[in-house]
Amino acid sequence: MSTLEKAEAAEHAMAVALEKAVVKSVIYTSGERDPRQPVQRPPDQGKLYMMGHDPRLPRMPDRPTLFDFFKYRFGPANHLMQSARLALKNGAGEKVVMACLVHDIAIAGFIRGDHGYWGAQLVEPYVDEEVSWAIRYHQALRFFADESVGYDYPAMYVKLFGADYQPDEYIQRDYRYARDHKWYMTSRMICVNDLYAFDPTVQVELEEFTDIVGRNFRQPKEGLGFDASPSAHMWRTIMWPTKYL
Ligand SMILES: [Fe+2]
Ligand SMILES: [Fe+2]
Repeated sequence: MSTLEKAEAAEHAMAVALEKAVVKSVIYTSGERDPRQPVQRPPDQGKLYMMGHDPRLPRMPDRPTLFDFFKYRFGPANHLMQSARLALKNGAGEKVVMACLVHDIAIAGFIRGDHGYWGAQLVEPYVDEEVSWAIRYHQALRFFADESVGYDYPAMYVKLFGADYQPDEYIQRDYRYARDHKWYMTSRMICVNDLYAFDPTVQVELEEFTDIVGRNFRQPKEGLGFDASPSAHMWRTIMWPTKYL
């Protein structure tokens, strides 16, 4: 069996074991499958389709908080917590620390490509406009050096993308726009405190940031995902990624 066949067989076994039928969103498989072809469906065994909590995932509280998403959906999130701690150590203001703490949540739990834009949109209804602005534009700024604050083009990018990599035109455009904006430095500070190589031995606890999050993140009383904000559906998708409709 090829690797893909093995993965499909394992997936099939998992689908059989599940009580509800799961059909993956196209974005999960696009590239591994040709998106012009119909999405593969599990064999019809008279099962009902998944319409909520996926039992393979840790169940989230009825009114989830930002920290619940960190605990149950965002992996270990060491990179985020270490970046926020570094910002604190460097004497950054609370807006910068808040921004650092959530700057890569899209990578940690949602969608990787264009993560700065996705991350900004996720938190936009709940944070100061400057915080979400900074998260949005760190996406572009990270590709451009700023000697005035000692930020070099990341050596890691040369390794990851090759020495001759050029950011897409829309990234260059957004960089030029952000460079002249009054909040430029807030966004730049995300890059400065971004730890490209995080230390797995350093343990940071989320609770270290309870007060800063309390003051800078407007936690909806209904829970993230249930407050009818413009990004509530995105939080629900993170909570229930396999919901059929
Ligand atoms: Fe990032
Ligand atoms: Fe980062």
